[in-house]
Amino acid sequence: MTAPLTIADLKWLARRRVPKMFFEYADSGSWTEGTYRANEDDFAAIKLRQRVMVDMTNRSLTSTMIGHDVAMPVALAPTGFTGMQHADGEMLAAKAAEEFGVPFTLSTMSICSIEDVASVTTKPFWFQLYVMRDRDFVQNLIDRAKRAGCSALVVTADLQILGQRHKDIHNGLSAPPKFTPKHVWQMATRPQWCLGMLGTKRRTFGNIVGHAKNVSDLSSLGSWTAEQFDPRLSWKDIEWIKQQWGGKLIIKGVLDEEDARAAADTGADAVIVSNHGGRQLDGAPSSISMLPKIVDAVRDRIEVHVDGGIRSGQDVLKAVALGARGTYIGRPFLYGLGAMGKEGVDLALSILRKELDVTMALCGKRDIQTVDRSILAHNPY
Ligand SMILES: Cc1cc2nc3c(=O)[nH]c(=O)nc-3n(C[C@H](O)[C@H](O)[C@H](O)COP(=O)(O)O)c2cc1C
Repeated sequence: MTAPLTIADLKWLARRRVPKMFFEYADSGSWTEGTYRANEDDFAAIKLRQRVMVDMTNRSLTSTMIGHDVAMPVALAPTGFTGMQHADGEMLAAKAAEEFGVPFTLSTMSICSIEDVASVTTKPFWFQLYVMRDRDFVQNLIDRAKRAGCSALVVTADLQILGQRHKDIHNGLSAPPKFTPKHVWQMATRPQWCLGMLGTKRRTFGNIVGHAKNVSDLSSLGSWTAEQFDPRLSWKDIEWIKQQWGGKLIIKGVLDEEDARAAADTGADAVIVSNHGGRQLDGAPSSISMLPKIVDAVRDRIEVHVDGGIRSGQDVLKAVALGARGTYIGRPFLYGLGAMGKEGVDLALSILRKELDVTMALCGKRDIQTVDRSILAHNPY
């Protein structure tokens, strides 16, 4: 294959370089995977308006997300187990994002810890919080994120109970991986990945191990979530989190106008329209199909961001046209990371930038901040 030209090329490579259980952890949705597929398919149904004879010089993709300058309105979404796609994955992806000028969001369920990522970056990154029953642990995570200089806290609202992903169960997913014949075979056939893993000590959940009390079973995400995540999480808790954190706050996982209004009432800085990449409520609508309604409901009160199904710069442009101030990519950067480490994340971001830039120009726009619904020829939502 020539050098990867698309996110699909990076996915093809990642499938060949990452052990099956971890590649499929990324490339999966819950139950029938209908929502996972809809996230991508619904972008394709939106058509762009081709414009001609307009000045296309001096284009700009720079913007802001919650007041932070971004080279383009794309952030790296929080993803668990990222250090299992490639050794030290979170540290590499954070460095790539910093160099590119876009935000990196570190997951609570990351392999590299908050402190690990802080040790290799020079600018603030964002931290994603899962709210656990053990509020001392939550408090401690918030304090660690503050000490590390994180500049935004992203509270995930749509995973207090884990959606069932069949592939993870079939694959016996765990971190560190088990040493059954099946798992050893999967790893042995990915020698580059193994070499990387042998060269790092980061092979389990760095934010949790050694920090959380009574963690009895980290090997199974399902039982761990059931044991630790707080299923009573409510809007009232956001008030407490806001007080503890005291900085920019983003609420992730809102897919309904009423919930978006409640999120705006909390005084948070942004809401992320998201269905967790189709990994939670299978049967929920795609994120992009819900974006316009949520934008219309709360745009004047809170920034609206979106994630789910973005696979090209064209998708980023469509999301911005439908009112998203910012977008996030999960799998696109994970595929880059699995395929080629940091270089693959650099490449994923460059691919998106080029596609975004050329598409914006051909739609007759020079500044991403002036893009609105008028660039769409057909919008089914
Ligand atoms: C492998 C994987 C792990 C994820 N882990 C987390 C996580 O730990 N916390 C979280 O808030 N969202 C998590 N997400 C959801 C992403 O933040 C994001 O919502 C989703 O990936 C966006 O869809 P996309 O992958 O199609 O871009 C995860 C997604 C994937 C694919």
